[in-house]
Amino acid sequence: MSNDDLKQNNENRKNIVEIRGLEKSYEKGNIKALNGIDLDIKEGEFVSIIGPSGSGKSTLLNMLGALDIADSGTIEVAGYDLSRNKKLDEFRSKKIGFIFQLHNLIPNISVAENVEIPMFEGKLPNKDRRELSLKLLDSVGLKDKAKIKPTKLSGGERQRVAIARALANEPSIILADEPTGSLDSRTSKKILDQLNKLHKEKNVTLIMVTHDMNVAKLADRVIEVLDGKIIETTDDSLLNDNIKIEG
Ligand SMILES: Nc1ncnc2c1ncn2[C@@H]1O[C@H](COP(=O)(O)OP(=O)(O)OP(=O)(O)O)[C@@H](O)[C@H]1O
Ligand SMILES: [Mg+2]
Repeated sequence: MSNDDLKQNNENRKNIVEIRGLEKSYEKGNIKALNGIDLDIKEGEFVSIIGPSGSGKSTLLNMLGALDIADSGTIEVAGYDLSRNKKLDEFRSKKIGFIFQLHNLIPNISVAENVEIPMFEGKLPNKDRRELSLKLLDSVGLKDKAKIKPTKLSGGERQRVAIARALANEPSIILADEPTGSLDSRTSKKILDQLNKLHKEKNVTLIMVTHDMNVAKLADRVIEVLDGKIIETTDDSLLNDNIKIEG
């Protein structure tokens, strides 16, 4: 495909996210976490969100996952109108895979059981759930850890379990908040490879908050948030299609 074809292809894709004038305050309006966000994201796009601490990145990600409700504005994700506050459980369980900070695994159940958590919304029998769980763990290189508790895993291994779990319900969108935040560069690379592979092979839309510009640049597009507003979005998708993660 020529660059023009690629560009055309890009423009023909549907929006999976449409946000208009989104606002969110905390502390009775004293803290304006989101101050008029307008944002479109295409189906299958990989977008990273950067910006200083406290600028509103996690708040925005929470809104995208319907973990929090905006004060005003509209937000439509994967065909669900999240501003109407309806069917949000269904939306979260069917459409979204969450990868948040390191401590989000349940410590007193096994790794395999952790991965099965999102499957309980569906109708899979126990045996099939376990089979799928093992398959997902295998895909992140952790099949042999399935039976142990997450407390016995390293930080990077836990994060890979979180990825396996995020995939358990075959989400359209993966929301990742600093997925490589406190990991060494080798482990980070593994995690990012895995996320990138999903995005490329399964056309999963990937929206990732990161502090690390080198990580952010792996995305098709980098969005910068400052004081609850988007101040810049760069579209480097054609350039970045050719970038491989080194190592
Ligand atoms: N539940 C809450 N109650 C009160 N204030 C909040 C709440 N959540 C976020 N805030 C405030 O909203 C603003 C945006 O927070 P947010 O967590 O979105 O920032 P962030 O960009 O993710 O920062 P970081 O990079 O440090 O994670 C901050 O001023 C924060 O203190
Ligand atoms: Mg944050």
